[in-house]
Amino acid sequence: MALPSDRSICPLRREEYILSPHFVSYSAFWVFALRRFATGRAKDSLLVSELSSRCPPPSLTVADSAAMEPAARVVTVESINPKVLQCEYAVRGEIVIHAQILYCNIGNPQSLGQHPITFFREVLALCDHPSLLDKTGIHALFSADAIARAQQILDVIPGKATGAYSHSQGIKGLRDAIAAGISYRDGFPANPDDIFLTDGASPAVHMMMQLLIRSEKDGILCPIPQYPLYSASIALHGGSLVPYYLDESTGWGLEIAELKKQLDVARSKGVTVRALVVINPGNPTGQVLAEENQKQIVDFCKNEGLVLLADEVYQENIYVDDKKFNSFKKIARSMGYGDEDLPLVSFQSVSKGYYGECGKRGGYMEVTGFSAEVREQIYKLASVNLCSNISGQILASLVMNPPKIGDESYESFNVEKQGILSSLARRAKALQDAFNSLEGVTCNKTEGAMYLFPRLHLPNKAIQAAKAVNAAPDAFYARRLLDATGIVVVPGSGFGQAS
Ligand SMILES: Cc1ncc(COP(=O)(O)O)c(C=O)c1O
Repeated sequence: MALPSDRSICPLRREEYILSPHFVSYSAFWVFALRRFATGRAKDSLLVSELSSRCPPPSLTVADSAAMEPAARVVTVESINPKVLQCEYAVRGEIVIHAQILYCNIGNPQSLGQHPITFFREVLALCDHPSLLDKTGIHALFSADAIARAQQILDVIPGKATGAYSHSQGIKGLRDAIAAGISYRDGFPANPDDIFLTDGASPAVHMMMQLLIRSEKDGILCPIPQYPLYSASIALHGGSLVPYYLDESTGWGLEIAELKKQLDVARSKGVTVRALVVINPGNPTGQVLAEENQKQIVDFCKNEGLVLLADEVYQENIYVDDKKFNSFKKIARSMGYGDEDLPLVSFQSVSKGYYGECGKRGGYMEVTGFSAEVREQIYKLASVNLCSNISGQILASLVMNPPKIGDESYESFNVEKQGILSSLARRAKALQDAFNSLEGVTCNKTEGAMYLFPRLHLPNKAIQAAKAVNAAPDAFYARRLLDATGIVVVPGSGFGQAS
């Protein structure tokens, strides 16, 4: 198939298909891989089909499509919900659209060739097609523990049917397994009734925003720079984002004084601050919070009467020896705080970690410290969507209960897992070093997650040139970088970062 040639319709150069880091963010890890990806011959047909699906056929001109517009549309941008207009999503924003890219950022590792974990996929395959379990020769194809796990899972799925709706909170037996996994991780008990299985972490975040935000007078404290899911969902639900700034000079430190300052400012403006979002390990900053800092955050939320929304989707992605992941629930319980002391929601996802199963849309939130009445309302919200998808539910149970020492799959599983994590760590370090070796660029040390957030020190002339075309300096730079090199990066200003 020939590439479309009309650049007025599909303004692409072959090198523009290469995709991108959030400039700034973790796709940063992927830049080099992407370059290789884009030159691989085998991938060319993929690129072409991607292109042809994104671009109108060359025979259709922009003028033609305008001529097809009806005179008056019933729905216009002026008449849609203004909250939709207000909502921005930097990782899929203007620069990304301009580039017509093949998405390689937003933490989507399997799109770049990362293999799924064999054990997880074996169990999924057997659950989805249970008659395989009755076939002779099944033991030659699947590991014994994958077969046993699939049988256990099928036993807890009503009708053994992955094509059936489930309980709106998720299949009880899978929630039992997740609660057991959380207890094992934290050393504190977890209750399956606290688990709400969701299609990835994003719908869980939306659900909590929907629950907490009553009007624009309700505020949510969010880190800046932040993952745009938060600003977008706060905007969609009509609330106010109350920013708190992570301190780049202390490795993206989260200072309690800063939280307090921003809380007081918001309150003085009549905003009722309802919750604090903490992303740990951080996206897009890659920092891992120290235990002491987490304790201060727990106390802050308790003293100020805030819900702690703990985004813990990168809990497996830690690359430094002196830091480890502690869930906020573990920290709160270890401080002696029980369920009644602190409303706390922990978000987890199958999209990140070493599993990277983004397209399977699995995740959960563990909701603690809410009254039974409020819990019922959360259940009602969950039931509006009937249930989350069953493959995602199964995967969530697997990531929280991977093979253990002694299981047949354990060794090969561990080789796969460590291979992925060490590759992520190696690429993070390589990128960090590369950024720091560039003139005019500095970058904090990466500790976890999948992201780097470098700082560009742009000369005054470049800043003036950006101003002249009414662009943020980093957006201007990103555009120039794309045009000059084909590398797409998302400007840091999209993450709310101050210049
Ligand atoms: C910090 C953070 N939270 C939540 C999500 C949402 O992930 P998903 O909806 O795929 O679980 C992401 C995705 O990149 C993320 O980086």
